[in-house]
Amino acid sequence: MAMEIAEAVMEVFSPSSVTDWLFTLSVVLLSVLCFFLVQKMVIKEAMRKHTPIPLLIPRETMDYFKIHDKSSSREYDIYRETRILVNAWGIGRDPKSWKDPDVFYPERFEDCEIEFYGKHFELLPFGGGKRICPGANMGVITAEFTLANLVCCFDWELPCGMKIEDLGLEEELGGITASRKTPLCLVARRCGCSCTEPM
Ligand code: HEM
Repeated sequence: MAMEIAEAVMEVFSPSSVTDWLFTLSVVLLSVLCFFLVQKMVIKEAMRKHTPIPLLIPRETMDYFKIHDKSSSREYDIYRETRILVNAWGIGRDPKSWKDPDVFYPERFEDCEIEFYGKHFELLPFGGGKRICPGANMGVITAEFTLANLVCCFDWELPCGMKIEDLGLEEELGGITASRKTPLCLVARRCGCSCTEPM
């Protein structure tokens, strides 16, 4: 992918002096950086809207406490040894935290400080607290690496006769994880750049 961007930039700027080369190099580096920043936003938005583990590991309260819901002015008594199921899926789609929560809109993370590593309670795909997912970083890196390869090495098309509206986004629970209700069926064509050539 970096090579493709570099080739495109070279064509436009055709550097001839050292200054031109340095300028071209900075443009290439910036383009690659932008690609990864956009990819991070896409993964965050996918984790928000399609939280892979909708209900976190069940918790049990150690003491009695009260919850005061400001919006409805109601109070709830939570007794000791109550089993708590945190709905991470619902948290990611809460209209109080997210504008148009059912819309897939990665740009919402452009100027947003909300991270998904357990510090911000508006987004908890990896849970939080003592039982937070210890593999969160590995999970994100694997998702980034896989997505970058799929996007950079293939051109993607819909199967013949299929429209974008036909791609359902409904989820279903299978054990603790949620996945697509209908399998995703797309046609992958090799993009023809050097990254898909056999070694
Ligand atoms: C995108 C990928 C992943 C997602 C969305 C994910 C999500 C989660 C969630 C929501 C929890 C429950 C946290 C809580 O209740 O507060 C959890 C727990 C856990 N995850 Fe992950 N995880 C991912 C990848 C991984 C990987 C790659 C590993 C290991 C290499 C891993 C190992 C664990 C373990 C061991 C726990 C249990 C922690 C405990 O109970 O103390 N996860 N994960």
